[in-house]
Amino acid sequence: MKFILLGAPGAGKGTQAQFLTKEFDIPQISTGDMLRAAIKAGTELGKQAKAFIDEGKLVTDEIIIGMVKERIAQDDCKNGFLLDGFPRTVPQADALKDAGVAIDAVVEIDVADEVIVERMSGRRAHLASGRTYHVVYNPPKVEGKDDITGEDLVQRDDDKPEVVLDRLKVYHAQTAPLVDYYQGEAAANDALKYIKVDGTQSIEEVEKSILTALK
Ligand code: AP5
Ligand code: ZN
Repeated sequence: MKFILLGAPGAGKGTQAQFLTKEFDIPQISTGDMLRAAIKAGTELGKQAKAFIDEGKLVTDEIIIGMVKERIAQDDCKNGFLLDGFPRTVPQADALKDAGVAIDAVVEIDVADEVIVERMSGRRAHLASGRTYHVVYNPPKVEGKDDITGEDLVQRDDDKPEVVLDRLKVYHAQTAPLVDYYQGEAAANDALKYIKVDGTQSIEEVEKSILTALK
């Protein structure tokens, strides 16, 4: 199974990816997590990416496409993968298509902008694994600590309200066109499913909706 999770910042892509990768036994490829890891490691790519991320802007297509192509060529991606946060622009979607990657499903998690801002302010993240929590909707077992490693949770730098608003603007301008793009692709290709779920349901309900539609 190869699929794409599409949705605004804070729609719940990372949260659902945690369940779906277990369910289908495939790796999660989160370009956001990969970039944050590069920043933490202080690599050249991390240095280039940081300025864009801190402003809520997208990292260049060139950097991202190269990074994803390298990742999906690895052995653990042979039986499928879940793309979280990629593609995010039409050129990125074209690059995936041109690389001959046959996607089985695109899952759009739909959430209104008003809900997003509240979600981001309560999000806490375990940066090393990409696991995310919410102080109200998905609290960790021990406050401020990751459930699995017990390590500290942090608030992402780009979750400040002013940056969140910029990220939403960027989403509507550059990523939302992919909704039409993939609906069109699915209409022309029986092997590709387009699934839209209401992301304002509870975390468990969103998971159930996705699984029902996929199976
Ligand atoms: P990235 O890390 O991909 O951020 P994003 O797309 O903005 O998405 P988020 O991780 O913020 O949200 P999410 O949908 O995963 O939500 P989550 O599950 O955590 O990218 C960061 C940056 O990197 C970008 O801004 C860009 O600069 C760069 N970048 C990355 N990919 C790129 C690309 N392809 N091209 C160019 N640049 C790129 O949930 C959010 C919160 O809500 C959590 O607290 C969670 O617990 C809670 N929650 C989730 N679901 C529910 C629910 N159903 N009910 C209640 N609460 C919920
Ligand atoms: Zn995420």
